Amino acid sequence: MVQPDGLYVVMGLLDADSIAFAIGREIRRWGGRVLFTVQNERMKRLFFDRGDQLTPEEKAALAIEFCDVTQEAEVRALFDKLGPVAGVVHSIAFANPKTCLGEDLFTSVVDDLKTAFHISCASLATVAHYARPHMPQGGALVALSFESRKAFPYYNWMGVNKAALEALVRALARQYGHQLVRVNAISAGPLTTKAAKAIPHYAHLARTWRKLSPLPWDPLEDKLAVAHAAAFLLGPYADKITGQVLYVDGGASIVGGSLLPQERPHGVDEIATLVEQGLPLSPG
Ligand SMILES: NC(=O)c1ccc[n+]([C@@H]2O[C@H](COP(=O)([O-])OP(=O)(O)OC[C@H]3O[C@@H](n4cnc5c(N)ncnc54)[C@H](O)[C@@H]3O)[C@@H](O)[C@H]2O)c1
Repeated sequence: MVQPDGLYVVMGLLDADSIAFAIGREIRRWGGRVLFTVQNERMKRLFFDRGDQLTPEEKAALAIEFCDVTQEAEVRALFDKLGPVAGVVHSIAFANPKTCLGEDLFTSVVDDLKTAFHISCASLATVAHYARPHMPQGGALVALSFESRKAFPYYNWMGVNKAALEALVRALARQYGHQLVRVNAISAGPLTTKAAKAIPHYAHLARTWRKLSPLPWDPLEDKLAVAHAAAFLLGPYADKITGQVLYVDGGASIVGGSLLPQERPHGVDEIATLVEQGLPLSPG
């Protein structure tokens, strides 16, 4: 599905639960080469090295570079080391949960709003700028979004940043189209990762999907569905698709109101039980 032997830079690895990890694995399955980026060495030590889902041999086999996307020099240095790049995945977001997420949208900590916007949205333009010269025959960028046309509780400024990210995807698609570089986003349903668990009452959000999604949605397993879509958008079958937001959310985004009992997919209660194991208690 991806370009065999093509190099794909997958940015935003934290641990084996990261969406970036699932996407990288899928790219490799289709014969692509993968270079992961981790924010910094400390993050790698704290989360990736300590995680026990991969053996030391599996970890050692991964190509990893460090890149903090708020540091333009680091993004430049990352791509300076590389030859031709077939595609880039931007699987990165951050918002201080104390000031940018939660019950109240208001915050006077404007620096946190700026940081959240820089990391979660504007950095895609920095990445595109330094990746583009490595795509002389064209290439593809894919960013990760979450339903931004609706207001979800607690998601606050991250929802605003996702709306901005989707607008940026369209603007970049317009700018780079004549150089055959495509830019798209995937809007994924809730998936259990470190970033997701930092959202206050994430379990409430995950439970909301049971009321919205006509297809069964499994926040633990459906990273694979997102990875399939990423491989499609990165590869030649999507060569006329750019500036789009592809919803990989079990269909939740097209449902008005909540599902009627007879519309609820079979098996969601079993999934819900699995999801709630290991998640903090929350209202709803
Ligand atoms: N998990 C979900 O429910 C869900 C749903 C839809 C979209 N997304 C999006 O998917 C993407 C990946 O998140 P995830 O859920 O895999 O969580 P994750 O915590 O595994 O990944 C988030 C990554 O962002 C990185 N990051 C934060 N600040 C950075 C910086 N300054 N420079 C470089 N990297 C930085 C973190 O180090 C981490 O690797 C994010 O854009 C997230 O908003 C997640």
